[in-house]
Amino acid sequence: MSRTIYKSLPDLALARTKRDDGKTIREPLVVPDIVKEFGEGRKFFIKTFGCQGNVRDEEILAGYLEAAGMVRTENEEEAGLALINTCAVRENAEEKVYGEIGKFKANRKKDPTFFLGVCGCMMQEEGVAKKIKASYPYVNLIFGTHNIPNLLNLIGESLARKKDLVDVISFPGDIVENLPSTRLDSYKAFVNITYGCDKFCTYCIVPYTRGRERSRAKEDVLKECKSLVEEGYQEITLLGQNVNSYGKDFHDGTSFATILREVAALGIPRLRFMTSHPWDFTDEMIDVIAATPNIMPCIHLPVQSGSTSMLRLMGRRYTRESYLELVKKIRTKIPGCAITTDIIVGFPNETEEQFEDTLSLCEEVQYDAAFTFIYSPRKGTPAAKMEDNVSDATKHERFDRLLKVVEAGVMSHSQAMLGHVYDVLVDGPSKKDEAVLSGYTETGKLVNFPGPKYLKGCIVPVRIVEDHAFSMIGALVEDPVLSLARRAGKALENEPVAKTYLAAKKAFEESKVVSSLRAEVEKAQKEVARLSAVGDDVAFAKAKKAYRSSMDAYRNDPVVQNYEASKEEMEALLQEAADILR
Ligand code: SAH
Ligand code: SF4
Ligand code: F3S
Repeated sequence: MSRTIYKSLPDLALARTKRDDGKTIREPLVVPDIVKEFGEGRKFFIKTFGCQGNVRDEEILAGYLEAAGMVRTENEEEAGLALINTCAVRENAEEKVYGEIGKFKANRKKDPTFFLGVCGCMMQEEGVAKKIKASYPYVNLIFGTHNIPNLLNLIGESLARKKDLVDVISFPGDIVENLPSTRLDSYKAFVNITYGCDKFCTYCIVPYTRGRERSRAKEDVLKECKSLVEEGYQEITLLGQNVNSYGKDFHDGTSFATILREVAALGIPRLRFMTSHPWDFTDEMIDVIAATPNIMPCIHLPVQSGSTSMLRLMGRRYTRESYLELVKKIRTKIPGCAITTDIIVGFPNETEEQFEDTLSLCEEVQYDAAFTFIYSPRKGTPAAKMEDNVSDATKHERFDRLLKVVEAGVMSHSQAMLGHVYDVLVDGPSKKDEAVLSGYTETGKLVNFPGPKYLKGCIVPVRIVEDHAFSMIGALVEDPVLSLARRAGKALENEPVAKTYLAAKKAFEESKVVSSLRAEVEKAQKEVARLSAVGDDVAFAKAKKAYRSSMDAYRNDPVVQNYEASKEEMEALLQEAADILR
């Protein structure tokens, strides 16, 4: 009897199909008893390949596992459960996955209850699940990108039936809300706004692995972002394969510009987004970015190729000229805006002339950063069927030539930063040296500078003292203690007690009833003062009584009472903070 149950396998033809019956699902999280028992105290390890979308999925996977009582470990050897979250975008990403699966054979040998799952985009490709099961029989669970919300049930089913499971559905998918999540970072967060992609660029596997494009309800996005702001997050990156498409499926005028504006208004210090397609980048989006200081002036605008004929073959929907026009518009309306890109070298039959168009475009744009890739055929995409007359040697030679041109552009931007001061959001000590911090400027430049570890998560001013191509060396220009104090003050503003106080104060200051009661008190007070000089005891006593009753009316007003009570709580909180500092 086979050890593996194939519940479903991916089907690329189905993945291509556009369906309009997607729904938003909001179900409470239920942990099956068998998973609770299995999970209690078990250490889990997750290895993620690929893009930010996959990193966000890792946080959700971790949220499920923690709900089942498991605890994260960064040491794969001590893991009692491991998940490998894969990427399918290029062949080399896939090769790394096989090596990673191989590593876990040792865990199984040591611990017969060790549980291994493989998930992510690569599982959505036809043939992959069977290949993995054939070569790595110790894999217990294979599931796809649309099966993530079912993770605990799948683990439970595998344990209960004592079988390995494969469940990779290909239908385009719904939107699932109320997902558990354990964020990897405490001050920078990714928030999904769209899932999937409908663009079907001819080389790209993503629409097949992630399904049809769908937008999360605006209220759900805003709720998630609001709680991040309240938790003191410093940066939110709105995620989507093509964020520009946000809201088009609602057919009610909601657009990416709408969500950008509304998330920015929640007060997050830094708002970023990725990725934007150059085809539907609207003027309204540019205007919102230009007018909103907490939207970072940094746009990832993948060009892929500088040749119009090549762009047509890639299915990119814009021309070299319209792309350059867009870059010009962005730079005019958002001065100092960084522009970064992705480029593919060696698409089938790329001519020298087409490649040179890419070089000249890079010379003209001078990107702040560029991710360059050698074309990798993806089975099931239209480009994979094209015959190719370009040799690997030529592709590599072009790749090296492109890198040189890209580097010159990047250098021109870094040189211009020398001597100037930039706000840097500190990620923490750099990998190489504990005493050196690293972080990013608003335009996304990596800066390393000496400083204390406690600045992690603070935004600090740094002067650039040395420029390297892809990172800078800087020096702090403010006493780090002051930077920390500023952050502490901001964090205090987000305390529930402080928020209640600020709301009560606002209501107090804006209440018409309160201001008329106060006017009554003042009037009565003046009358008492006037009569005290006249010597008419009866009238004086009457005025005093009127004053007292106006005071009572003022003090008993609910808005006034609320304000006074919240003020007391706020004072106690500040006193507590002062005691700690002392
Ligand atoms: N949605 C984003 C990102 C897609 S994947 C976008 O449209 O820009 C990230 C990058 O991988 C792409 O921009 C592209 O440059 C590269 N890429 C995608 N498919 C590829 C392939 N088959 N071979 C090489 N690079 C590829
Ligand atoms: Fe792939 Fe194109 Fe969609 Fe980007 S826009 S994910 S490159 S199909
Ligand atoms: Fe890779 Fe899937 Fe992202 S293919 S790039 S992990 S959407």
